Amino acid sequence: MKAIHITKSGGPDVLQLQETPKPTLEKNQVLIKVKAAGVNRSDVITRKNTATYGKGSPQTLIPGLEVSGVIEEIGAEVNDKKVGDQVCALISDGGYAEYVAVDSSHCLPIPEGISLEDAAAIPETVFTVWFDVFMLGKLQPGEKLLIHGGTSGIGTMGLQMAKAWGCETYTTAGTQEKTNFLKKMKVGTVLNYKKEAFEEVWKDEKIDVILDMVGGDYTQKNLDILNKKGRLVYINGMKSTDVSINLRTIMAKNLTLTGSFLKPQIAEVKTQIAQQVEKNIWPMFNSKAIHPIIYKKFPLAEAAEAHRLMESSEHIGKILLTM
Ligand SMILES: NC(=O)c1ccc[n+]([C@@H]2O[C@H](COP(=O)([O-])OP(=O)(O)OC[C@H]3O[C@@H](n4cnc5c(N)ncnc54)[C@H](OP(=O)(O)O)[C@@H]3O)[C@@H](O)[C@H]2O)c1
Repeated sequence: MKAIHITKSGGPDVLQLQETPKPTLEKNQVLIKVKAAGVNRSDVITRKNTATYGKGSPQTLIPGLEVSGVIEEIGAEVNDKKVGDQVCALISDGGYAEYVAVDSSHCLPIPEGISLEDAAAIPETVFTVWFDVFMLGKLQPGEKLLIHGGTSGIGTMGLQMAKAWGCETYTTAGTQEKTNFLKKMKVGTVLNYKKEAFEEVWKDEKIDVILDMVGGDYTQKNLDILNKKGRLVYINGMKSTDVSINLRTIMAKNLTLTGSFLKPQIAEVKTQIAQQVEKNIWPMFNSKAIHPIIYKKFPLAEAAEAHRLMESSEHIGKILLTM
């Protein structure tokens, strides 16, 4: 099969289309003939420094955390899926390829009204937001949620999920085009962080949960605008992960500071997330309350271009590779 390999740490051009053997199946896995794969910021981080990947050698490293496609083979112990099923799936790596092997319990059906190709944009965002905002952050209907980086893949999906959950949503973005897009999406109160200071504008809003990927000097500002018993959840620190905060803010308001990396979670946790997402979030797709925002699709061979676009941060929503 053909797959994009990270041939060494470096810029987008280290992504090369090469022939590689089809994955072999474990007994609890299914083999998916991939229709499309999502591109994620994490793939860029892995490409820049393959040491962050954790296993394998750079020569065999195929990035990609989510795919959609058709099941072509099932493992000996799989009884919840069958050959021919159309699915989207969360995977730990290997998505930029014509075939991928994945735990059957990490596959979900294609939501009604979403094309097989577009469904590749769903798993990584929905699993991450469900785990971080809903399971760790315990967001309740009626509460207020702020997501920084509102036009990211995570932001565009997370804001819709929270709104459909009955929450009031707030978000930040860095250009007029991005804030206009978010306003058109009607996903809540939007602020251009290059023009206004969110910690000033929202100082009396009493936000219950904040999902942050920026870190750095946002951290104390986030703590300052949280409601009593508020939860601050980290999924990245793109500005900086070394931060200075005043612990008094946490004690004075009984705040919770948490966060996660989804990829290294054990298979059982991902299965639990999949079950909860199918029960709670899939009906939102089926009722058209939420949908993936797709900015651009590239053929698999143009993965380097897709990475260049992601690194430009010009995109709004998701970038896909198609087979
Ligand atoms: N922990 C986990 O398991 C997990 C899982 C998935 C994603 N993530 C993280 O969540 C974030 C969103 O992921 P994604 O794939 O949806 O990303 P994405 O679409 O590339 O979006 C990232 C956005 O963040 C904004 N941003 C703010 N500060 C930035 C900075 N210092 N450098 C670069 N961008 C900055 C940019 O928009 P503006 O122009 O508005 O600044 C950019 O468009 C990423 O940081 C990713 O690593 C973590």
